[in-house]
Amino acid sequence: MEAHVDGAIVLVGFMGAGKSTGARTLAAELGAEPLDSDHELERRLGEPIESFFDREGEWAFRAREEEMAIELLGRGGAPVIALGGGAVQSERVREALERHTVVHLEVAPDDAWQRASGKGRPLARDPARFEQLRRDRGVLYESVADAVIPPAERDALRRALPALAVLRSAPPDTRLVWASAASGDYPVFVGRGLVGARFFPRLGGRRFVVTDEHVARLHPVPGDERIVVEPGEEHKTLGAAERVLGSLARAGARRGDLVVAVGGGVVGDLAGFCAAVYQRGMRHVQVPTTLVAQVDSAYGGKTGVDLSEGKNYAGAYHQPSAVLCDPAVLDTLPAREAAAGYAEVVKTALIAGGPLWARVRQGRDPDTGVIMGCLRAKLAVVAADERDAGRRQVLNLGHTVGHAIEAATGYTRYRHGEAVAIGLLVALRLSGREALRAEVAELLAARGLPLSFSGASVDEVLAGVERDKKREGERVPFVLLEAPGAVTPGHDVGAAELRGAVEEAHDR
Ligand SMILES: NC(=O)c1ccc[n+]([C@@H]2O[C@H](COP(=O)([O-])OP(=O)(O)OC[C@H]3O[C@@H](n4cnc5c(N)ncnc54)[C@H](O)[C@@H]3O)[C@@H](O)[C@H]2O)c1
Repeated sequence: MEAHVDGAIVLVGFMGAGKSTGARTLAAELGAEPLDSDHELERRLGEPIESFFDREGEWAFRAREEEMAIELLGRGGAPVIALGGGAVQSERVREALERHTVVHLEVAPDDAWQRASGKGRPLARDPARFEQLRRDRGVLYESVADAVIPPAERDALRRALPALAVLRSAPPDTRLVWASAASGDYPVFVGRGLVGARFFPRLGGRRFVVTDEHVARLHPVPGDERIVVEPGEEHKTLGAAERVLGSLARAGARRGDLVVAVGGGVVGDLAGFCAAVYQRGMRHVQVPTTLVAQVDSAYGGKTGVDLSEGKNYAGAYHQPSAVLCDPAVLDTLPAREAAAGYAEVVKTALIAGGPLWARVRQGRDPDTGVIMGCLRAKLAVVAADERDAGRRQVLNLGHTVGHAIEAATGYTRYRHGEAVAIGLLVALRLSGREALRAEVAELLAARGLPLSFSGASVDEVLAGVERDKKREGERVPFVLLEAPGAVTPGHDVGAAELRGAVEEAHDR
């Protein structure tokens, strides 16, 4: 939805999402009074919503709710409005929202029920009906939202306020997703044309753009200094990091400045790593320009470089200060790179299950909606476990063998995503999910992705698995899948079984 300069910030979301509290918090930040459509309506009705609803019925209530919402949205003056949970069901209300910045406050199902039930609310009396309503309304909230705040601790909305303000100057249809992790939170702006429009959040500091030779030519992003590295995984090294760090030092970069990583996962990981260690840490902004980076690597704060002994063997967790994701820059991506990114899309959809998998399994080209679905799925995992202590390990589905194939073939034969494609098929074999494996193989093959590897022996790949970073003592735990959406880490796999699955993926 298009955001307009003169509009209010309007909070929408299901029961228990915290709209009223959120509106009070934001209004206090802005030194203003919030408007709350439910409170205003009760004042006008002269009684609680519950008693009116029970006596007059839902239809009569909706009519009054719509009238109240339209009035408040048209009134002007109030910078923050909390909108009653059901108001978005009205098409007139949805139209009226177009001139405002609409923020969807998400709420976890259990929290919603806990907060809303037992208080006489007419629609929060039966858990099954409540959950169905939450799902149905969720689709409507998504259709009107300019920004999404996932379920997070309460202060997230207040911290998101500067990003919400800057969203108004972004190209039309830009959306904001608030990303949370234990060590920090940040805005993710998603929209076609962000790079071309030179959109950039207000973060202060000088900007040191780190990019690679290909991207520098195709998508120049302005900055105070530009550091151009050689493209390709073989340059994601400590040597390259040293050159970037030296350039930062010679240009006089300070801790309050920004590294702006413009490129694929290689530039993102390398530049993010340099930001993490330069003077013990400076901020960075990720501007992902490949599909791999837009659906996966730009978020979550894992940065690093490869050693010849192993992939991503030297690195640091360092969350970005913002991510600018512009799907329009993918138009210049070579077909092979787009295919490699597709493997990460399939991986993420298998982990997320639900509507994302339903969309991806149709086999169409990933559009902005699918990219959003993937990045939100990744952010949800990172929010629950930033440092790979448990849940985050699911993101490694297909990666244990994938990384081993990349390392065994010297990081040059396969793109990261291509190795992941083969690794995914191995993981599905180890999971014993044959029908799904066949379906995934078909999706990958349709993009021209490899289904088997050559250029290294089975023993070399197995040796690579042994060196996996997730190794715990004698065992290397595997991520396995029961069904799309039901993926779990920490599984033991027997040596013979693993050898069999890798042999099967070996193209002799
Ligand atoms: N940090 C994480 O959480 C994470 C997650 C997944 C992958 N990764 C890492 O990401 C890396 C792979 O990233 P990648 O697949 O993006 O590869 P990449 O960065 O090497 O980019 C691939 C190629 O595409 C070119 N390119 C980039 N954007 C372009 C554009 N818009 N138009 C035309 N060409 C463009 C690049 O110059 C390069 O030649 C691996 O090192 C992997 O380990 C990291």
